[in-house]
Amino acid sequence: MSLLDLCRKRWSVRNFTGDPVSAVDMEYLKEVGRWAATSRNRQARRFVVVRDPENIRELVRAANMQEFVARAGTLIFGIAEDAGGGAKIDVVISLAQMEMAALELGLGTIWLGIWDRDVVASRLAIPPDVTPVVCLAIGHPGETGSPRSKLPVEELFFEETFGK
Ligand SMILES: Cc1cc2nc3c(=O)[nH]c(=O)nc-3n(C[C@H](O)[C@H](O)[C@H](O)COP(=O)(O)O)c2cc1C
Repeated sequence: MSLLDLCRKRWSVRNFTGDPVSAVDMEYLKEVGRWAATSRNRQARRFVVVRDPENIRELVRAANMQEFVARAGTLIFGIAEDAGGGAKIDVVISLAQMEMAALELGLGTIWLGIWDRDVVASRLAIPPDVTPVVCLAIGHPGETGSPRSKLPVEELFFEETFGK
């Protein structure tokens, strides 16, 4: 399937089966994330992968994550090692690549921005000088959903100057 076809099939999954993501698939996803571009190739981003169902349930409970997250097979927290902010973009680039790779593997994903950062940092032993940015949940979809409508290309992209 082409990348465009994958993109057109993507939708945020909020109903996972609870089945784990296989070790083979996880290795593939990590490798995809590894090769992402980073600012000046500093690679100042790290990821904490949470796969233990009990740990995931505990995070949901303690860090005010949404209930459906408890049935995702894997949570990947992106961590920026650069407080200045450049690494936050690097985190997102890696996770975005991993999101598409997960779709390629027949998995479903959702980005998660709503969670208590202090609680997550404490539970995942994230040091105070680095920043948990965003979480990508990956798992087996428990429903057939459909992509949301998106703005047409003509509204999104301008040529040469803004608004044209
Ligand atoms: C950075 C980011 C954070 C998000 N955080 C959450 C979240 O905490 N909970 C949630 O249910 N969806 C979250 N979403 C999913 C969006 O709501 C979803 O992408 C949007 O409604 C468009 O739907 P689609 O992904 O199916 O196209 C997040 C998306 C992004 C990009």
